Amino acid sequence: MKIGAVALQSPFAIAPMAGMTDTAFRRLVKRHGGCGLVVTEMVSSEGLVRGIDRTLEYAEYTEEERPISIQIFGGDPEKMAAAAQIVEGMGADIVDVNMGCPVPKIAKHNAGCSLMREPEQAVAVIAAMTKAVKIPVTVKMRAGWNDSERNATRLARMVEDAGAAAVTVHGRTAAQSYSGSADWNLVAEVADCLSIPVFGSGDCVEPEHVVDRMGLGVEGVLVGRGVLRNPWILAQAADLSAGRPVRTVTAEDRAQFLLDYIDLLLHERVRDDAVAVGHDKWVINKLRALCSYYTKGFDNGSHLRLKINSVVSLSELREAVTEFFLADVSPV
Ligand SMILES: Cc1cc2nc3c(=O)[nH]c(=O)nc-3n(C[C@H](O)[C@H](O)[C@H](O)COP(=O)(O)O)c2cc1C
Repeated sequence: MKIGAVALQSPFAIAPMAGMTDTAFRRLVKRHGGCGLVVTEMVSSEGLVRGIDRTLEYAEYTEEERPISIQIFGGDPEKMAAAAQIVEGMGADIVDVNMGCPVPKIAKHNAGCSLMREPEQAVAVIAAMTKAVKIPVTVKMRAGWNDSERNATRLARMVEDAGAAAVTVHGRTAAQSYSGSADWNLVAEVADCLSIPVFGSGDCVEPEHVVDRMGLGVEGVLVGRGVLRNPWILAQAADLSAGRPVRTVTAEDRAQFLLDYIDLLLHERVRDDAVAVGHDKWVINKLRALCSYYTKGFDNGSHLRLKINSVVSLSELREAVTEFFLADVSPV
C-alpha cells in the first residue's frame, strides 16, 4: 500500500505515543518485523519553528526506521506550514497532523482534538501544509470531541478535499480519553467514505485483533498500547495474515528487548558530560514508563514495576529485568 508516493511494506504500524515511541523503541520494534510505518511522538509546531532543542529531539529518527512519519501539533495554518517545511527538510517521509490529543494543555491552544471542533480551521491547516511541502500530509483524528460531536466522517472528507494523503481514526472521542472502547464501526464508515487510505487505531492488544480489523475495510492499523505490551505484535500480525505460524516470544526475548532498549537509550541524547550525569536517571525513567505497559498480563508484573521504581543505577535496572524474566515469572 502507499501513502502518496511512499510505499509501506506492511499495513501495520506503531501509533504515535508521546513519551513512549522514541527512536530507540521504534528501532527495536522495527527490527522484529511486520512494521510498515513508524510515527514519532507528537512534536510542537511552535517549538520546531523556534528551533527549540527539546522539540527537535522528539523529531529525531534514524535511517533504519524509514518510512518515518513525524507528527506535529498546532492550530495556526502558517506555523503548521512552516513546521511541515522543517519536517520535510529533516528528511521525513510523511508529516502527520495531530487532531486527536485531548490533553487540555494542547487542546486549549486550538490544536490536537480541538481542531475537530473547528473544521474550517482544520481544513485551513491542511491546505496550507499541502501547499508548502511535497511530502504527504496525513491526519490522525478521533471519533470527535464528545458523543454529541462525532464528526470524524465529515472532517475526514473535508481534509481529504484539502489535500490530505491519508487519515487515521482512533475510534474514541476526546471526552472518552482512553475509557470505554474504540468504535471500529465508525472507523469502517470513514474508510468507506474516503478514497485516500484510512487507518484505524484502538484496542488491538492481540495479533488477531490487528488482522481482524483489516477486514473492516481499513488500509492499515496503527497499534499503540498493544506494542508497548508486546513489541512483537506487528510481526505476529504479519505472520497471521501471511498464513505462517505465529512466532512465539520467550521470557528471554522479553528480557533481551528491555536490555537492548536500555543500551540504545544510553546512546541517545548524550551531548556532553553534564548531560551524561542525569542521563542514567532519564534511562531509568524511560524503563519505568515502558514497564507499566510491558508487564501487563504477566503474573507478578507488579513486582518488576515496584523493583524498577526503586532502582537507582543502571546495573540495578539490568539486574531487575534479568531476574524478573529469567527467574521469577511465567506468562499468563
Ligand atoms: C501514552 C500514550 C501517548 C499517546 N500519544 C499520542 C500522540 O502523541 N499522538 C497521537 O496522535 N496519539 C497519541 N496517542 C494515541 C495513540 O496513538 C492511539 O491512537 C490510542 O492509544 C489508541 O490505540 P491503542 O488502543 O492501540 O493504544 C497516545 C496514546 C498513549 C497511550
